[in-house]
Amino acid sequence: MQIRRQSHPFEPILRSLSERDRPQTQAPIGTGPEQARRQPAATIAFHWGTVIAIVIAVVAVYLRDVVEDKPVRAALLDLHRQLGMLVLLCVPLRQVVRYIAGHKDFSTDVATILRWAARLSHVVLYAFLLAIPLVGWSVTSAHAVDLRLFGLVPLPALVAPDSDLADELTDYHAWLAYGLMGFVFVHALAALWHHYVLRDAVLVAMLPRPKRN
Ligand code: HEM
Ligand code: HEM
Repeated sequence: MQIRRQSHPFEPILRSLSERDRPQTQAPIGTGPEQARRQPAATIAFHWGTVIAIVIAVVAVYLRDVVEDKPVRAALLDLHRQLGMLVLLCVPLRQVVRYIAGHKDFSTDVATILRWAARLSHVVLYAFLLAIPLVGWSVTSAHAVDLRLFGLVPLPALVAPDSDLADELTDYHAWLAYGLMGFVFVHALAALWHHYVLRDAVLVAMLPRPKRN
């Protein structure tokens, strides 16, 4: 079934660009075989799995501020650390998936400079996903806390115990996390701009596949 593109403020500019200039993998929303219109399933799973892990980790660490009970506070911080380490572990795994399965380009008629801006923004997002957990891990080491991945695999200390350093690193960790949140806001706006203004398949391609009956 062919879904007609509706007119929007950018229509005259878009019309001036010929169909053949579009990326090979581009497919309008609602056309073509299901798989051709989606990013690889593992890419989608890693993307939204990471988003969910970050949301729960951030909620847990702020919930800890309002909870009095010590064991619950400890459990919330542990949940935060474990989910953060999971996010860190997923970064190289996502790159392996990207290398093997590829990443399709669904953007239509976007200027080359904007394409590069999008690529750069993904690099910056990955840098945040590496830096924030690594600094968090260093905070934990500076507090002389024994860190075990999933409560099982012992992890080495990244820095020597030092409470002043721990405070300083906590500030860096927090500022990086605020930076990530700001960046994600712009990233989500860009995804919505693709969907509602450009009306291409960039966002839909990253959404989980609908269940078949
Ligand atoms: C992408 C992953 C992560 C995100 C987005 C994140 C985000 C945050 C945020 C928003 C805070 C609260 C900052 C504030 O306003 O005070 C925080 C605190 C903290 N995080 Fe993370 N974090 C992540 C991973 C980790 C990891 C992997 C560890 C340790 C292994 C860790 C350890 C800590 C610690 C110890 C605190 C201070 C808690 C406190 O004393 O109040 N974080 N993190
Ligand atoms: C914590 C929040 C988020 C993080 C850390 C994040 C991170 C990333 C990263 C690193 C990529 C690069 C592609 C990849 O390798 O998977 C990406 C792609 C993408 N993200 Fe997010 N994302 C977040 C939230 C969101 C939200 C809320 C939306 C939708 C509103 C969204 C929509 C997309 C889309 C559509 C792509 C594909 C872009 C393309 O194909 O060029 N993301 N995201």
